[in-house]
Amino acid sequence: MDSGTLRLLRGFCFSLLIAPFLPALLLSQNGQGAQQALLQNGSNVYTNNCSGCHGADTLGTDHAPKLTGNPNVRRRSVEQLRSFLEAGAPAAGMPAFASLPAQRLDAVAAYVNSLNAPASQAIIPGDAAAGSEFFWGKGNCGGCHMVHGRGSAKGPDLSDAGSRMTLSEMKNVLLHPDEHITAGYELVTVTLRDGKELKGFARGRTNFGLQLQDLDGVFHMLQSREIVRVAEDKHSLMKPLDATSDQIQNLSAYLSQLTGIEPGPLKVADADSAAPLEDFPFSRILDPRPGDWATYNGQLNGNRYSDLKQINISNVRDLALKWIFPMPHFGLESTPVVADGVMYVSGNNQAYAIDALTGSQIWKYSRQPTKGLVGDASLGTNRGVAIYGDKIFMVTDNAHLLALNRVTGSLVWEVIMPEEPEHYGSTISPLIVNDTVIAGVSGGDWGMRGFIVCYKADTGEMVWRHWTLPAKRGDPGIETWGKEPPLLAGGSTWLTGTYDKETDTLFWATGNPWPDRDDRNRPGDNLFTDCVLALNPHTGELKWYFQFTPHDTEDRDATEPPVLVDTVYHGKPRKLLLHADRNGFFYVFDRTNGELLLTKTFLHRVNWATGIGADGRPKLAVLPPSASNRERGCPDNAANWSSTAFSPTTRLYYLMTLEDCHEIGSRPSGQSAEPSERYMRAISIDTGEVAWEIPQRGPVILKTWSGVLATAGGIVFYGDPNGAFVAVDERKGNTLWHFDTNVGMKASPMTFMVDGKQFVAVAAGSVFLCFGLPSP
Ligand code: HEC
Ligand code: HEC
Repeated sequence: MDSGTLRLLRGFCFSLLIAPFLPALLLSQNGQGAQQALLQNGSNVYTNNCSGCHGADTLGTDHAPKLTGNPNVRRRSVEQLRSFLEAGAPAAGMPAFASLPAQRLDAVAAYVNSLNAPASQAIIPGDAAAGSEFFWGKGNCGGCHMVHGRGSAKGPDLSDAGSRMTLSEMKNVLLHPDEHITAGYELVTVTLRDGKELKGFARGRTNFGLQLQDLDGVFHMLQSREIVRVAEDKHSLMKPLDATSDQIQNLSAYLSQLTGIEPGPLKVADADSAAPLEDFPFSRILDPRPGDWATYNGQLNGNRYSDLKQINISNVRDLALKWIFPMPHFGLESTPVVADGVMYVSGNNQAYAIDALTGSQIWKYSRQPTKGLVGDASLGTNRGVAIYGDKIFMVTDNAHLLALNRVTGSLVWEVIMPEEPEHYGSTISPLIVNDTVIAGVSGGDWGMRGFIVCYKADTGEMVWRHWTLPAKRGDPGIETWGKEPPLLAGGSTWLTGTYDKETDTLFWATGNPWPDRDDRNRPGDNLFTDCVLALNPHTGELKWYFQFTPHDTEDRDATEPPVLVDTVYHGKPRKLLLHADRNGFFYVFDRTNGELLLTKTFLHRVNWATGIGADGRPKLAVLPPSASNRERGCPDNAANWSSTAFSPTTRLYYLMTLEDCHEIGSRPSGQSAEPSERYMRAISIDTGEVAWEIPQRGPVILKTWSGVLATAGGIVFYGDPNGAFVAVDERKGNTLWHFDTNVGMKASPMTFMVDGKQFVAVAAGSVFLCFGLPSP
């Protein structure tokens, strides 16, 4: 397209995504000064006319009620207050102020209204800088509270205290903490059956369990049968503030300025805080403890294969539902992460920490869905969180990356991943490599420029960004696009990548070129769309790449898992990369250099290519002129993003496949289409042959499906298109167990171990389901 069109498009995208917020943004910035002046003026009117009866501090006297923290006042709008002041209530001792000039009445009404508004909207006299000094110094508030990533996560995060609390609520909490205990921070002392005592906050509590946060910030998931006694301490952990009225005033001024986390990296000074309460080092992701599921695929190599074997082919028939955890979102695609008995799950712009044994909630973080998005992101698709250090990471629908504190669940930092508004969304589970967090974006079917981006996990400071499309002359791959630089031409990055420690390489798949089916302005191979990229994780530099579908016109995102396996292959020890592509071919690479070792189709219905040449390029099929448009469009989505697994025992690679074709071009073929068929297939990685398959009966309604989990128990778990969660024998594929969820499953299963017991969990519809063996 020409650059005029491009500008137009950009303008369009911009107005779509940002413009609705602009007026409000501008207003609040310009308006803030005027509002401040109005309130200041009102405060003066108050001092001169009202303070004698209502008190200089607005907290009331013997003559008149308090105006701050007064529900009667909070209920009234500014206009209602103004009318009340004009008329007064002379019989009750409140004079009428009809004689005050209109301007002053307006000002004092606004001021009285603001007293019951969040502290951040009120005029609070005092020296905020001195308050900050007190908070971090003499007051030792940072010993229990976090603000903008600094301090301790023991007590509630105060980064947004100013917009959450009124001034009087703040003062009450500080002066009388025992009377205002924040929900979830009730102190308890628990005596356990083994005689041990634990003291901490009851972050979650039911008749059957207690989710305790001890005073070191460590979670203990306690079940009622372990508990002898729970003694409730009626006191807050926080001591009543012992300070001068000036110090209290200054502290209030400081707290009232805390209005939450603005997008952008943390300032280094802020991030430079005490040692975190709970640390989850990278070594625990690189080499996970047996019970943990520490990253999206369980392991950084992307092979959804677990060494756990307590649940195995001899007992899997006894598997039973242990708990469900509902979410206010349908069509969950998220994989839970589990560490130390706590499970972290996500949905559309929300994350939860839950007790992995019971599903009870410990904390929740959520924000509203963003309006005006496109694609999967607009549906609220989210594939899970990442864990590292003292944080949990997740993306939002509008392509922000969030870091939440793992103990409080509060936002610590937030960054906007795109540089400028385009059709960006994000649905990905972020990946941790070393001390960085890496994520990608969606939106490739609507026009955007794909990238993978890497941030420091501590601060959100960007380390590198790898654009998947060349932008200007001289950029690698620009010659594969024709005349115009492919600025909005797709190459999305919405599937979590994989990482190989030994070669220190990051592998990431890219999506289709855009416009998907209109290639008039993009002759050539269209690099680096539909590729797997091998990147240097420290710099984002490209080491090698492979393009599965050059010059794609059929929406063949290569966003299927790049699975890393070390094994003896064709007689040689090899570091492999396995990938079953949407284009219908299975590929085996030597991942140290990208050498192609095997290609083979795993479908019957592949018409676009007769094979893949030794050079990796498809041998395009020449179809007879009589071939219908539908025959020309085979396959449809042969495979998709959901998880796959390789079992070292069987040397088979397991995945769900779809035998289907789609109509290409605009003219319907008029022929009755062969019905879509779905097969669970096991592929020999040595030959590419299908070793066994399970046809999936019932209508193929949704073109998305659940992923696969293989375990050392000899089992392959998967969700079938009609909503059964199934366990089959990894050797022959005979079904051992199933559970009917009766919803189209879209998520991939995982397994974990807590308290010496193995569980299997998967999302279906709007719930997470957790299965385990009956207790002995
Ligand atoms: C002479 C004392 C006096 C002065 C001066 C005075 N008030 Fe009052 N005000 C009262 C009393 C007494 C009441 C309680 C009336 C009632 O019980 O209905 C009251 C009630 C109010 C209420 C309603 C509170 C409630 O709980 O419903 C507001 C708001 C209020 N005053 C604002 C002001 C403002 C603003 C000024 C200055 C412009 C002011 N007052 C000046 C005595 C005073
Ligand atoms: C020994 C730990 C500790 C210290 C020190 C401490 N607090 Fe707290 N604070 C807590 C805990 C725990 C809570 C939640 C329970 C409660 O509301 O009492 C809390 C609650 C609060 C709240 C209410 C938060 C909400 O979300 O409802 C505020 C505001 C607050 N503290 C401010 C301060 C300030 C300011 C200081 C320093 C002068 C301070 N705290 C010192 C432990 C502490």
